[in-house]
Amino acid sequence: MTSSDPTTTNPMRHIKIFDTTLRDGEQSPGVALNTSQKLEIAHQLKRLNVDIIEAGFPITSEGDFDCVSRIAKEVRGPVICALARTNPKDIDRAAQALEQAEKSRIHIFTSASKVQIQYMLRKTPEEVLELSDKMIRYARQFTDDIEFSGQDVMRADPEFVFQLYKMAIEAGATTINIPDTVGYGAPLEYGMMIKRIYDQVVAGRNIAISTHCHDDLGMATALSLAAVENGASQIECTLNGIGERAGNTALEEVVMALHTRADYYQAKTQIHTRELYRTSRLVSRLTGMIVQPNKAVVGENAFAHESGIHQDGVLKHKETYEIMNAEIVGRQAAVMVMGKHSGRAAFRDALTRLGYALEGETPDSSLNEEAINVLFVRFKDLADRKGQISDEDLRALVEGHDSVKETFALEDLQVLSGMRVTPMATVRLVTPEGTQQAAATGDGPVDAVYSAISNITKINPTLESYRIEAVTRGGDALGEVTISVRYGESKVTGIGVATDIVESSARAWLHAINQILAGQMKTKQDFTLETP
Ligand code: KIV
Ligand code: ZN
Repeated sequence: MTSSDPTTTNPMRHIKIFDTTLRDGEQSPGVALNTSQKLEIAHQLKRLNVDIIEAGFPITSEGDFDCVSRIAKEVRGPVICALARTNPKDIDRAAQALEQAEKSRIHIFTSASKVQIQYMLRKTPEEVLELSDKMIRYARQFTDDIEFSGQDVMRADPEFVFQLYKMAIEAGATTINIPDTVGYGAPLEYGMMIKRIYDQVVAGRNIAISTHCHDDLGMATALSLAAVENGASQIECTLNGIGERAGNTALEEVVMALHTRADYYQAKTQIHTRELYRTSRLVSRLTGMIVQPNKAVVGENAFAHESGIHQDGVLKHKETYEIMNAEIVGRQAAVMVMGKHSGRAAFRDALTRLGYALEGETPDSSLNEEAINVLFVRFKDLADRKGQISDEDLRALVEGHDSVKETFALEDLQVLSGMRVTPMATVRLVTPEGTQQAAATGDGPVDAVYSAISNITKINPTLESYRIEAVTRGGDALGEVTISVRYGESKVTGIGVATDIVESSARAWLHAINQILAGQMKTKQDFTLETP
């Protein structure tokens, strides 16, 4: 490969997908994932077949350390990466969290722009160079796989950037990541920066150039792809583009751009594209961050044709208006598949067809027997009410279920509400002490239900946000309620799915309470970058 032509020698270059949903993605305002939620996402990222999972920033909290350790221990296949500042304590903690990983990477970062070096790090550029050099060498005792980043490259002096990354390679970094931390770069400009780094810094050595772009001006995907055209072989990204401020490059966008335009980019990823939609849904559900309907690839409308001319064209020949088909990203037109007469075997079959990994059938299962039994009962109940059950219904059922221990379970619910009556709710719960019933009034039917539940559970968190969404189609659609509650210093996301929206609301409240009781809430620590 000549140093000035990154794309000619190997026509189909492999582009590594470095997923940072669990680290940068979790830095989205309002998002706090607990350990079991992070593990669930990590297992799904493995099914998606990402190359690297950035699992967290272990020095920031015990919780983050625990998450990284559990992921390192349990998730095999992808490289597991942990973030650290240029500080021995950070690096030690990252290395400790990664101890049980099959393949580990330490990602060390500093700052490249003058404004960050001066005001945030309070150092001179020379000190940044010296400290980074020392810390990369220090980290090499733990792993040979070291990634190095200088934040805010696109507002930095290019000469300093080249110097910083030359030093990083000399010190032993094997991947150099070029972050546009504040989403300032223009695509061509960033592409040219990558090319200069490829020519002048990497200069023919076996070092991966990585992109890490933020979407402040809506250009993160364009920048990442411009980087690929100019020699980058790794893209850092998150599902649904979540992340700090306006978010990061969206994984599903870059993957499908490279897939759909392989003719142009002459590059491919190893992503199992049929897992994209399911992964997007999972991340949206667990983070509580909705996906906008017109979002590329995974948005509700991404494959919907509204205009008569378009519909006519697609019916005659799909390619008239479709550049990729829904099945490739794991979406299906709603097919009626199941009903109230369907048995357990058909139910299991349908789950497998939709891509869920069942215990006993795959080594990497997401649904154990107990979960399947609970889901089957809920499926039967839903089939009794709806008649026919679509793939979307089944997905909503599975995705509305998780492995949180059900200390309290909803058995029955009655609500009286209207324009001229005080809303009143009666709920019956299955509790560790047997069935209990309580009634309460409230400002509205949901408020009354929440009070009645809390009268029984004796847990009364503060409701911070409430969102309802129809997750399937039609008048008998399933409604999904996502709430965010605060309990002391902790924050929990609760989710409930049912055809009745008051019941969905009750299930979401109970889901949050059961997590609080299981100690599965996460205290998101505000973390300020101190001078290392
Ligand atoms: O945006 C950024 O610069 C980062 C670094 C830690 C890579 O997230
Ligand atoms: Zn970032």
